[in-house]
Amino acid sequence: MERRALIAGNWKMNLDREGATRLVRAIQSETRGMEGPEVLVAPPFPYLSLVRDLIGPAPILLGAQNMHPEAQGAFTGEVSGPMLRDVGCTHVILGHSERRTLFGETDTGVSGKLRAALLLGLHPIVCIGETLAQREAGETFSVLEGQLRGSLACLLQDQGVPFSLTLAYEPVWAIGTGRNATPAQAQEVHAHVRGWIAGAFGKERADGLRILYGGSVNPGNIRDLMAEPDIDGALVGGASLKAETFIPLFRYR
Ligand code: PGA
Repeated sequence: MERRALIAGNWKMNLDREGATRLVRAIQSETRGMEGPEVLVAPPFPYLSLVRDLIGPAPILLGAQNMHPEAQGAFTGEVSGPMLRDVGCTHVILGHSERRTLFGETDTGVSGKLRAALLLGLHPIVCIGETLAQREAGETFSVLEGQLRGSLACLLQDQGVPFSLTLAYEPVWAIGTGRNATPAQAQEVHAHVRGWIAGAFGKERADGLRILYGGSVNPGNIRDLMAEPDIDGALVGGASLKAETFIPLFRYR
């Protein structure tokens, strides 16, 4: 099955008004009339509206980096899915490893957010990944399966939640370290994840599911990663912050 690739830039807590403006303008001029992968940027919350306005009609998708599962209420410091929709987001990253390790996010928490996003029509990018210790202990597949079971629990339990998501495999040991998984290592995991999804949700959904790779993706390794049959795009941190390193990622062909 043909799966359209997605190159997603996760800005994390980086850039400012001026830097965001410059970067989006540069991306915009490169995406005009472009065929090929979809391109997404995920700025910090305060810049979502600004970036939405800068994007205009250009084919650039806008995502947030997190959201709260409730629509509104007394949750100081949090941002809800309807708010994200309101400022023009179509996508949201959920369960990034930094949220899991630095902010105590659990699989159950991710599943609650996933359910809320799907019911709102926000397209989630759900992140999973093992640590170096887990990989070295030979636990990669069991850790990922546990994360899938927990993070996708809302889909396993409730047939009414639409299966409309993207997964991102991001080995924790490869994020921001310059140490990326080899294309073969990533492909092995992606194929395993797709097989797990087929077992849990059926082959058709598994075949249609986009699975991104993330972890030190850069202009030097994108082509080899994208050549693997089960790698459908990239979730990019560091290299998404500069036009010179982000543009080649969606112009890799
Ligand atoms: P990196 O980050 O590209 O800087 O390794 C990837 C991510 O955390 O999504």
